[in-house]
Amino acid sequence: MTKNQFIVNIKNLNQYFGHTKLRNQILFDINLAVKSGEIMIMTGPSGSGKTTLLTLIGALRSVQEGSLKFLDQELCGASHEQLVKVRRQIGYIFQAHNLLDFLTARQNVQMSLELHKNIPKYEARIQSEAMLQAVKLGNRVNYYPSDLSGGQKQRVAIARALVSHPKLILADEPTAALDSKSGRDVVNLMQQLSKEQNCAILIVTHDNRILDIADRIIHMEDGRLIKEVS
Ligand SMILES: Nc1ncnc2c1ncn2[C@@H]1O[C@H](COP(=O)(O)OP(=O)(O)O)[C@@H](O)[C@H]1O
Ligand SMILES: [Mg+2]
Repeated sequence: MTKNQFIVNIKNLNQYFGHTKLRNQILFDINLAVKSGEIMIMTGPSGSGKTTLLTLIGALRSVQEGSLKFLDQELCGASHEQLVKVRRQIGYIFQAHNLLDFLTARQNVQMSLELHKNIPKYEARIQSEAMLQAVKLGNRVNYYPSDLSGGQKQRVAIARALVSHPKLILADEPTAALDSKSGRDVVNLMQQLSKEQNCAILIVTHDNRILDIADRIIHMEDGRLIKEVS
């Protein structure tokens, strides 16, 4: 794959919630391309449609109108099986870290790897521990989430998202629950790992303090991408 190939290519996308007469248009004529390895930040007021767009790109809901391609796969009209296949190639990081409380840090990361790739448990364990080292949690691999700080939990979530080396990471308000130092650490790590793995990252955020890590910033308002600052 060449460096500038589009990971995501969206053309004239419209999205609605609800049925028939009462349906509500949420996204209007979205056009957006994400390149391999690029870090893009999406800002915009609450309710403007950012999460909706992120879940469409992440194949977590069906695209209703227009075109959304993940690599060469069209997601508009894709079957459930096709969407599931696409999901395996994407890493997700959410505001609430969504770790499983009854699994250790290492087990949380390893479970993602075993779901995504058909690799032996022994290998998965080594790779999971290496990924936790990379997010500076090498000394916390056997801790449960309840014994980790907010920033540490979010770093486990990053390790979990990146361990299978996805070509795309989607992050919805990843620093919202963190103090500014932990938030900074978390995005610095995301930036560093994205460069190392040539992984594109799309981050939705209200956090102005992290805008500088972006290669490109886009702005959503009332369901429309209104301007591109570069
Ligand atoms: N499952 C849903 N059903 C109906 N409306 C929804 C649903 N999810 C979100 N919405 C509406 O879609 C709009 C965009 O929401 P969202 O994408 O979550 O915005 P943001 O992430 O920018 O805050 C809002 O008006 C919200 O009320
Ligand atoms: Mg949102």
